Amino acid sequence: MERTFVMIKPDGVKRRLVGEIIRRFEDRGFNIVAMKMLTPSLELAEQHYAIHRDKPFYEGLVSFITSGPVVPMVLEAPDAVRLVRNMIGALNPADTLPGTIRGDFTVDTQQNLIHGADAPETAEMEIALWFPELK
Ligand code: TYD
Ligand code: MG
Repeated sequence: MERTFVMIKPDGVKRRLVGEIIRRFEDRGFNIVAMKMLTPSLELAEQHYAIHRDKPFYEGLVSFITSGPVVPMVLEAPDAVRLVRNMIGALNPADTLPGTIRGDFTVDTQQNLIHGADAPETAEMEIALWFPELK
């Protein structure tokens, strides 16, 4: 079993896609290990996206992610990290396949509904950051 970190972004909550997105993970067979809803503080958002600090889209990204409630969760399945990334779909809307979450519900590069950790090590760091109470 592998754990990964997933977060429904503010656009997903505002568009009432939380149930739809969770449904897909449950249907696929993931266990939901932890889940909550909160509006991220600036500090939390900056830590989460620290790797993108020097990118031109960083400020807009942090301001978007702190703009309203998000739904972070820990999901568990064999190969969870790669499974989730495949279900989310590519970042570039022109490359994102139909059938994926982004491919079915968004054409936007920033407001793209959902984050998923990109590697098992990243997942561990993000789980520790968003769920310090899980240990
Ligand atoms: P990235 O880690 O490259 O994508 P992914 O979410 O698929 O792992 O980028 C993180 C987030 O940064 C991405 O979900 C949306 C935002 N972003 C932009 O707003 N503009 C951009 O040009 C890029 C590359 C990312
Ligand atoms: Mg990423």
